[in-house]
Amino acid sequence: MATPLLEFFGLVPGASKRGTVDVVAPVRTFADVILPPKTRQTLEQALAQVRNHDLIFRQWGLGERHATGLGLAFNFAGPPGTGKTICAEAIAQALGRRLLVVRYSEMESMWAGETPKNVAAVFRVADEQGAVLFFDEADAIAARRSTSDLQPMQRESNTIVNVLLRELESFNGVVIFATNLAANFDPAFERRIRTHVLFERPGAEEREQIWRVQIHPDKTPLAADVDFHVLAELFDASGGEIKNAVLKAAAMAAAEPATTSPRAIHQAHFEAAMRDVLTAKSIMRQSLFDAAQTPEDSAEKRVMAAFQEAQGRWAAAVRVTLIVAGAALVLATIALLVTLLR
Ligand SMILES: Nc1ncnc2c1ncn2[C@@H]1O[C@H](COP(=O)(O)OP(=O)(O)OP(=O)(O)O)[C@@H](O)[C@H]1O
Ligand SMILES: [Mg+2]
Repeated sequence: MATPLLEFFGLVPGASKRGTVDVVAPVRTFADVILPPKTRQTLEQALAQVRNHDLIFRQWGLGERHATGLGLAFNFAGPPGTGKTICAEAIAQALGRRLLVVRYSEMESMWAGETPKNVAAVFRVADEQGAVLFFDEADAIAARRSTSDLQPMQRESNTIVNVLLRELESFNGVVIFATNLAANFDPAFERRIRTHVLFERPGAEEREQIWRVQIHPDKTPLAADVDFHVLAELFDASGGEIKNAVLKAAAMAAAEPATTSPRAIHQAHFEAAMRDVLTAKSIMRQSLFDAAQTPEDSAEKRVMAAFQEAQGRWAAAVRVTLIVAGAALVLATIALLVTLLR
């Protein structure tokens, strides 16, 4: 159903695509996600809450009788590529609902000044569509409200958090936020989050299983030398990195000329691909680090320049004082001599 709000977000065919909001029919399930036991347990508890919530407020109709405080909000916190997005999809899939994905940081940078209005609008769309609402990259939204010396930007982020709190209060559905671990939560926002699910980088055991789930069980041609246990031990990688390495290894194998034996992905392809992925990551980090250094560098230079300038002024002041004192001494001596000569 094409409503004005869906058109506004470019979610219907023919509408201008704004790229910050997507409605996804979820495909991936919890069977596609490999998690450490503790994370899986917290997630299962979250899912149980969601299922009961759906039963009580939708099927038993209590959502129609009670107006506020019915929403269920979760925070999926963890480093990149640890499965936060697939788990949000798996939750929507388990509920038989669509997932409304809001790429929050893009929304904020694309529509500066309009974000509070847009945040309110996505809640309307999620409500209309009966969708699970997923705020991806939501670190900024979760951040503590500023209280003093408000710049226009901070004023807007305060308004966003206020709008969000109000919408969370009246939304009768499931909202999932994805943040990194450094998110500095606003206390009022924190109170409305039912459960924080911590996504950690996988250990060797999980990595081995993640390698396996990234391969099609029947169709992906694997050479006899492929050993996922060895790959898991060899590379301390996240699920996202393993996925990228698998796709890269497949591309390498497919690009090789077909000889007598049919093409297949070998252990060497996986190893070379993973090395590439990890090297690319360290280059990215390096350049980010360099970029981060630049302003500090110049700040340091500015401090040094100010210091040198102050030093220069001090030296000049000392010089003037000495000249004045010297002149005074000469005058005093002359005065003394004149007095004595009389
Ligand atoms: N725990 C996991 N089990 C299986 N596959 C995983 C797991 N984590 C990541 N992957 C693979 O990596 C891809 C990226 O993961 P996902 O997008 O869920 O990470 P994310 O935590 O949302 O990362 P980001 O913070 O960068 O958005 C997935 O599509 C999946 O193929
Ligand atoms: Mg994600």
